[in-house]
Amino acid sequence: MKILIVGSGGREHAIAWKIAQSPKADKIYCAPGNAGIEEYAECVDIKAMEFEKLAAFAKEHEIDLTVVGMDDPLVGGIVDVFEAQGLRVFGPRRNAAILEGSKAFSKDLMKKYHIPTAAYESFTDAQAALDYLRTAKFPIVLKADGLALGKGVLICGTLGEAEAGVREIMTDKKFGDAGNCMVVEEFLTGREVSVLSFVDGKTIRPMTSAQDHKRAGDGDTGLNTGGMGTFSPSPFYTEEVDAFCRKYIYQPTVDAMAAEGRAFKGVIFFGLMLTADGPKVLEYNARFGDPEAQVVLPRMKTDIIDVFEACIDGTLDRMELQFEDNAAVCVVLASDGYPVSYRKGYPISGLESFRGRDGCYVFHAGTARNGDRIVTNGGRVLGVTALGADLKEARKNAYEAAGLVSFENKYFRHDIGKAIDEADAAGKYSK
Ligand code: AMP
Ligand code: GLY
Repeated sequence: MKILIVGSGGREHAIAWKIAQSPKADKIYCAPGNAGIEEYAECVDIKAMEFEKLAAFAKEHEIDLTVVGMDDPLVGGIVDVFEAQGLRVFGPRRNAAILEGSKAFSKDLMKKYHIPTAAYESFTDAQAALDYLRTAKFPIVLKADGLALGKGVLICGTLGEAEAGVREIMTDKKFGDAGNCMVVEEFLTGREVSVLSFVDGKTIRPMTSAQDHKRAGDGDTGLNTGGMGTFSPSPFYTEEVDAFCRKYIYQPTVDAMAAEGRAFKGVIFFGLMLTADGPKVLEYNARFGDPEAQVVLPRMKTDIIDVFEACIDGTLDRMELQFEDNAAVCVVLASDGYPVSYRKGYPISGLESFRGRDGCYVFHAGTARNGDRIVTNGGRVLGVTALGADLKEARKNAYEAAGLVSFENKYFRHDIGKAIDEADAAGKYSK
């Protein structure tokens, strides 16, 4: 088969690596790709939002399957454009990707179908939001309705902070049109877990759990980022939690979307908070997580092309997903200064040490080729993933591997997987 991947980050590198494991993959293309993806795929210079150009490329090169990794093109309707031209594509249509594209939509859906989530109100008028906040309990959470690169969520400890937040989101439009509508949400506490799942419109098959570290600094300090590291599985995601989520969150979400005439095919990413009152949905994404994919896919045994095809054909009920009984940790190597300002273009050395190193992967997020050198080209530069028999071993291996690579302004968190020790102390560490 000939496969086209749309995207250019660490997630797409992990998807390309996993597709390349399949005996069915004869030729892989990636648009636009990056310097690491080149190892598995021919990179094509078309941007992810250039739907017509991508569809023309898919036709010209007789692509059998296109896999869309990123949120922007999915929410923008790339799947509809491909389907209208008779092209086979993995991902939700525009009317289903709204699950990620509008937080007000997803909150209303959860309320209508009794899916556990934080209490909320939505506003399209800044004054009405301010009036509401004057009577609210703090801390409280403000969320820009639309896509905002993971930065449209503000946790406000005081009324003053919330007033400044409303100005930022709704008046000054810091996140553009994403702030035309705003959700104000109850602040939840607990452990966060990410569960990615394959969906074929009616059947859902959850993958193994993972946990991200969103803040830039050690000890969860500093600004929110796209994700500084992940581990999988989460020791807090017990069988009991899984059973609850399958019954009250996963299948009900798929059924709700179908009942609304928005059947979802693709990956639903459930961002969950395990609260004292049980698991609740923090957010939905309509795609693989980044860097969740970098720990989940290396543990997946099932041929991913078979799963993509089952999702498109609506036959996911006939297959079970299989994962290795091991663990994985991913440490993101970023450019110092991310997510605010940072320099790029520095040569990266040590990448060759990953060749033939079993159970270790270096997924490129922001890299570029400059002559025969690979250089830094983004805030998040690389994701170094290592497997281990258990989480502690995987973490040790990942930090050892992270030391193999160097570039001038290399920055990373030193405490990825600290929850592993907290789980151990709480007697919850079983692997
Ligand atoms: P989101 O983009 O919705 O995942 O939000 C980004 C991050 O903000 C989440 O990963 C949580 O850490 C935090 N967050 C979002 N909603 C809430 C909430 N209702 N209560 C507490 N923290 C939240
Ligand atoms: N790692 C969080 C996300 O992909 O949205």
